[in-house]
Amino acid sequence: MTYSRAQWRKTFREARNNLSAKAQQQAATAVAQRLSVLPEIRDASRVATYLDNDGEVSLAALISLLQARDIATSLPVLHPFSGKHLLFLDYTPLSSMKKNRFGIPEPELRCQDIRLLEEHQVILMPLVGFDSKGNRLGMGGGFYDRTLAKLNERMMAPLLVGVAHDCQQADALPVMHWDIPLNAIVTPTQTIRISQP
Ligand SMILES: Nc1ncnc2c1ncn2[C@@H]1O[C@H](COP(=O)(O)OP(=O)(O)OP(=O)(O)O)[C@@H](O)[C@H]1O
Ligand SMILES: [Mg+2]
Repeated sequence: MTYSRAQWRKTFREARNNLSAKAQQQAATAVAQRLSVLPEIRDASRVATYLDNDGEVSLAALISLLQARDIATSLPVLHPFSGKHLLFLDYTPLSSMKKNRFGIPEPELRCQDIRLLEEHQVILMPLVGFDSKGNRLGMGGGFYDRTLAKLNERMMAPLLVGVAHDCQQADALPVMHWDIPLNAIVTPTQTIRISQP
């Protein structure tokens, strides 16, 4: 049976929301360990991260580790007027946070905290589903796709890394022409690098 994108989203969101608190904790630790040894992260001056929502793998442990290593961290913030785009803002333990319209905390929007996409060497992204070719299925808003579409013609693009539980893997996801593929995927048990075509 071939699943539609909506069916995949339902299946994966249920699977990750059904993980126990212990499984979530173990996933966060394992993923932080794998990400912290990626050469691109070790050498990075700035990494874009996310705060978990809806059963996503938590990056809280990794964020603390990066900050302790003096690697700057950013978080996505919904663009205030450019429809369904993201901004990336500097995030430190001192950032004042505010919930967005999806109930996800984000740094308060201050112009001096906005960081350009190309200031990041790595962008870590949550996802709903992935496959071994680097195809990414998100929550369905197109936020990351729209925002990262601007990278296409630019040199020095950040490494795009999807972070997921193992139960979020599909054999082959249906792909749309606007989907921005991942360069790598990290789960608690796998570090997948997608070779360039
Ligand atoms: N570069 C783009 N320009 C305009 N619209 C876009 C672009 N990328 C995606 N969209 C629109 O966004 C909508 C949602 O896209 P899609 O289903 O791929 O979301 P997603 O990848 O699951 O979400 P997200 O990127 O937020 O994780 C689609 O209707 C698509 O037309
Ligand atoms: Mg997409």
